[in-house]
Amino acid sequence: MRLVHHPWEEGADFAIGLKPITADRWLEGGEADPAARKDPLFEAARELVWAETEGSRDGQAEVLALVEQTLGRADPRTDLPPLYAAARRVPDDLCLMQKRDGEWRLTALSLSAGTFFTASEVIGRSLAELHGPVGGFSERFLVRVQRIFEGLRPELVLERRNWTLVNSPELHTPHSAAIRARIGGIAPAQAGRALMIRVERQTLRRLPETGGAVFTIRVWLTPLEALAEEPARLAAFAGAWRAATPQFRAYKRFDLYDTLVEAFLHGQGA
Ligand code: HEM
Repeated sequence: MRLVHHPWEEGADFAIGLKPITADRWLEGGEADPAARKDPLFEAARELVWAETEGSRDGQAEVLALVEQTLGRADPRTDLPPLYAAARRVPDDLCLMQKRDGEWRLTALSLSAGTFFTASEVIGRSLAELHGPVGGFSERFLVRVQRIFEGLRPELVLERRNWTLVNSPELHTPHSAAIRARIGGIAPAQAGRALMIRVERQTLRRLPETGGAVFTIRVWLTPLEALAEEPARLAAFAGAWRAATPQFRAYKRFDLYDTLVEAFLHGQGA
């Protein structure tokens, strides 16, 4: 129950939060066999977890080459789209961004751990369209994020993290309704075990050959009760929970969890 990332310590509002990291820290690793988790979804629920557009295969192949450069070569899987062949080697979900008619668009993705969205819903979307549900994104962030994509130098790797709270221990959560319908059945005394802090660790880097960019999303799930072992982190989480901005709270539906989280925090003296 280790808390690997603690993004709530950096704030409780939407933020760009991209920071440079060294290339050797691009992929965190740490999952023994990502393909064992991803392949059954790729076979049985393809439209939830995989999508590609025409003309994206060169960019996909460059992502695979980067992953192989980082992790070493594996048996070639020429039967699979190259981006999926890359994704099944890493815990992360992989998103290929390419410029189409002047807009950065999502042209292929392997999304085995989507947080309440599916591959078929988002394929082909521009940065503005992808972030339509994120309150205030177009006014506050869109232009800056577009500039970051334009200016991404080949040797630069950028990292950001976000966080939310969910009542599901599953990585693959394409839809929110059935999960949220279960919140009422959680007793306050179970909150620490039933509620999970869901952190996404994301990276962005240029594909120098084909000119696109690869965006990675790695999901970490830790039960809320892990905070009880680390008083300073518990205090920081309580502060962030209570200070979260209205837009941030509304987007993440913190209203559904307030009673349970407060019960947990009070039980810990926070
Ligand atoms: C690299 C710059 C980017 C920034 C600064 C950014 C920022 C954000 C923020 C602030 C949110 C709200 C959740 C949160 O993180 O707290 C969000 C959600 C999201 N982002 Fe991004 N994002 C970036 C790139 C991308 C890319 C390349 C994709 C392509 C897959 C993407 C897809 C999404 C989706 C699908 C959501 C969820 C929207 C929903 O709830 O339906 N983002 N992003």
